[in-house]
Amino acid sequence: MLARLLKEAKYTVVFTGAGMSTESGLPDFRSARTGLWNKVDPTRLASIDALENNREEFIQFYHKRLQAIHDYKPHAGHEILGKWEKAGLVHAIITQNVDGFHQQAGSKNVTELHGTLRTVHCHTCGTRYLNQEFIDGTFHCECGGFLRPSVVLFGEMLPYDAIETAETETAKADLFIVLGSSLSVSPANYFPVEAKQNGAKLVIVNMEATDYDDLADLVINERKIGDLLKEIDEKV
Ligand code: APR
Repeated sequence: MLARLLKEAKYTVVFTGAGMSTESGLPDFRSARTGLWNKVDPTRLASIDALENNREEFIQFYHKRLQAIHDYKPHAGHEILGKWEKAGLVHAIITQNVDGFHQQAGSKNVTELHGTLRTVHCHTCGTRYLNQEFIDGTFHCECGGFLRPSVVLFGEMLPYDAIETAETETAKADLFIVLGSSLSVSPANYFPVEAKQNGAKLVIVNMEATDYDDLADLVINERKIGDLLKEIDEKV
């Protein structure tokens, strides 16, 4: 059915979460055993409060995450989404992920709602640097400000331009496919609802059930995204 929906749709938006990158080796946040937030309290580390008042631990936590996106790479599922964009089957990706794997796998139209680990920027003047600086232990900008990963921290607003683009893409969608998200964080989890309210068909592909499954036209649980996308790719 998902293959048919993909072929019939005029404008398909794919919305991804951390479950899109677990098969690349990056842990997600809320899976029962392996989720990052099961070991770490996000508000203690991935927050503006941690940046300002718990800087040592903040640096350690992000140093590991920045290193991980260099150690791992996109998997076949990311590559297939890039191929489907070229084939006109996927028109936009809205991602909560900060690993940059969609772009690395060839997807062009990617909106990053929660920023990116690919760069760091000065918390005072905003100057951007490649994340290698942070990995190599450069934590200060020429202006003296603190360099921090360009991700949205808990307690910060989402980038306005990302929200605006996500709104525009969601409004155009007649097919909206969620891949690998528990849909437990707002305002990101508003987009699948918005798509449905706009009359799009909503598909949720997630290992575990989500609170939005009853809203979806199609729910696929207990399937690994990489395997499922490979299977669909043979049918489209
Ligand atoms: N195939 C299918 N589903 C998977 C796979 C897989 N290979 N691996 C994990 N999942 C599912 C899990 O069952 C889980 O429900 O992906 C979902 C990931 O959910 P979360 O860990 O909550 O990640 P996400 O929804 O992206 O979190 C949103 O929370 O902490 C913030 O900013 C962070 O962007 C993140 C946001």
